[in-house]
Order: sequence, then structure tokens, then C-alpha cells
Amino acid sequence: MVTLFDSLSIGNLELKNRIIMAPLTRSRANDADGVQPDFVTEYYSQRASGGLLITEATNVSPMAKGYVRTPGVYSPEQIASWRKVTEAVHAKGGKIFMQIFHTGRVALPDFLPDNQLPVAPSAVKSAGQNYTDTEGLKDFVVPRELTVEEIKETVKDFGRAAKNAIDAGFDGVEIHGANGYLIQQFLSTNVNLRSDEYGGSIENRARFLFEVVEAVTTAIGASRTGLRLSPGGEFGDIKESDAEELYAFVLEKLNEYPLAYLHIGTFDMNRDWHPVLRPVWKGVYFAGVGFDKERGESLLAAGGADAIVYGKSFLANPDLPDRFRANAPLNLPDESTFYTPGEKGYTDYPALSQAATA
Ligand SMILES: Cc1cc2nc3c(=O)[nH]c(=O)nc-3n(C[C@H](O)[C@H](O)[C@H](O)COP(=O)(O)O)c2cc1C
Repeated sequence: MVTLFDSLSIGNLELKNRIIMAPLTRSRANDADGVQPDFVTEYYSQRASGGLLITEATNVSPMAKGYVRTPGVYSPEQIASWRKVTEAVHAKGGKIFMQIFHTGRVALPDFLPDNQLPVAPSAVKSAGQNYTDTEGLKDFVVPRELTVEEIKETVKDFGRAAKNAIDAGFDGVEIHGANGYLIQQFLSTNVNLRSDEYGGSIENRARFLFEVVEAVTTAIGASRTGLRLSPGGEFGDIKESDAEELYAFVLEKLNEYPLAYLHIGTFDMNRDWHPVLRPVWKGVYFAGVGFDKERGESLLAAGGADAIVYGKSFLANPDLPDRFRANAPLNLPDESTFYTPGEKGYTDYPALSQAATA
């Protein structure tokens, strides 16, 4: 019977266990240039006992930035700051993928070069607000519709970012196709109102995703490429009126790519997607969102996933695998410091050994 503590092969890598650290935006980067400060290295290195660490979503270009203090992977300085992270994680025997994304309409002009409007498949505003350090919460704006030429450029940005991630020493990249960002905006039926080859039919709405998959796998190889999807998830004011047909199509076509893994982690309260999608996907399957040790163990044992992705529990427990092994109590995550600058609530969650000493 498979357990959380068994090793797992993904691509050409051997993961030492099946406890995966979820991508978690923590907003600790320098806002002006998207460079990670040195203490980010400490945070990831503290968590190197996970089978695989997936970094916070990282901007593929200046136009991709949708949140305060988020890192990028398009400048030499950003790449150099990430190289310290990968070296520290590797020195502890860990493996690490970078999650790469473009936020599309979820950005505010405040974050973009020359205060431009954010871009999206169509000029459809998101409900809700986004946080700025200078003016607090601000309403989303009506984004500008991307031209076909700009779509092609954006696809290239993903390929370049993937290559930069490898240059920074990452073991691979995870394409962020989830949680209402640009790729899912294209997949959706409410943000994508296009009538060209990128809109309308399921095949057309999935075109941008597959062009990104093609660009990234061409740049770094499918065996170093992962993908996160969040079927039916409404995070980011997304609607997918035909989610079942859409993701059946997407997974069938994805089977043509021997990806390192597919990560399904979705906030769809109406449906459990894992039993629906697991049988369709021929490769390595990561299941995320809402797992504790017991639920993870039972899904693995039943063959419902190959590895389990832990978010808030890994955020608050740098030694999560040790704690699971020892059935030890977990530190609770402090939401008030999820996205605040500095080390508080970031590198100061104690490991078991430290907790015992304290
Ligand atoms: C502080 C925070 C930041 C997050 N940032 C990202 C992100 O950058 N990329 C992503 O795909 N998901 C992100 N998520 C979602 C997590 O990857 C994960 O799906 C979520 O925490 C649910 O899993 P859990 O129940 O194990 O916490 C974030 C979640 C939290 C709490």
C-alpha cells in the first residue's frame, strides 16, 4: 500500500516522499524589482524535507504582476536571487519547482509598467478588490483585450521564464493554469468572450493553455514541466459553465505530453474532482486542497493520487513530514502574516526540535 513516506519518480527525479509543499504566495519580494530578499532562502530551505517544494507563483514578465511584493523570473537580478534558494534546498537534499504565472485581469494598473491597464482574453472586469500597499484595497478595473500578437508574445514569456527558472537551478517549473489567472481566464466562459481562434469552442478556449504547455515543454522538456489546474474553481470570479466537458478535453489532450505531473487543486465546493480526473490522466497525479495527514493517506492508499499537496499546514510547519511521521501536533497558520513583509510569520514557525527546546 502506498503511503506518504514512499518515494516517487517524476520525470527524471526521485522524490523522497509524497508530501508536496503547495505553491504559496507570501509577498516578501522587493516590490520595485521583484527580487527575493535573502531570508526567502531560509524559508524554503527550512521546508526542504518535503518530497517536492513548489514555489509561490512567480511573474513571467512585468505585465504578469498582479500582487504586491511578488517575485519575478525575467531579470538577471531576480534569477540570481532565486539561485540562492535552489542551492540551499538542494544542499539539504530537497527538490524544488518554480510555479510561473501571469495574473491577467487580476492585476491593477498600480503594479504594471507605466500604470497600464491589465490585460485579459476580453475586457471583462473581475468582481472584488485587490490590495495595494499605498492605498489599501482597490476595485479591479476593466482590463484591455489582448491582441493575437500579444497572446503569442505572452506565450513566449512563459517559455523564457521556464528557461530562466532552469538557469536559476530549479528542477522544473509548474505552469499555473489555476485559480482565476490568465490561463484559466482563457479557459473560462465568463472572461473569454473572444470570437477568434482563442475563444468560443472548448478547443479554442484551451488553445492558450496548450500553446503555453508547448512553449514550456519545448524550452525545458516535458519531464521538467508540471501543471496546476483548478477545474470548476470560482476563485478570481471565474465561471466555467461546461467544466466537465472542458476538463475532459484538456486532460485527454494533455496525455499527449509526458509531463512531470498534473496538480489538481481546486476550490470547487460543489464537486470532488479527484475521482473524476484521476482515471483520465495517464501520468503522475498530485491532489491538493483541504488535506490533512489522514485524508492524504487514504487517498494514496486507494490509488486516488500519487502525491498530496499541502498548503497552510506546510506554511506553518517547516518540518511537516517529520510531524506526520511522529503523529505530532501541528502549528496553526497565522493568517494575519500570510502576505505581510518581513520574517514574522514566515521563517519563525518552529520545527518540532525547536518547539521541544522552547
Ligand atoms: C497564503 C496562500 C498563498 C497561496 N498562493 C498560491 C499561489 O501562489 N499559487 C497557487 O497555485 N496557489 C496558491 N494558494 C493555494 C494553495 O496552493 C493551496 O491550494 C491552498 O492553500 C489549499 O490547500 P490547503 O488546504 O492544504 O491549505 C495559496 C494559498 C494560501 C493560503
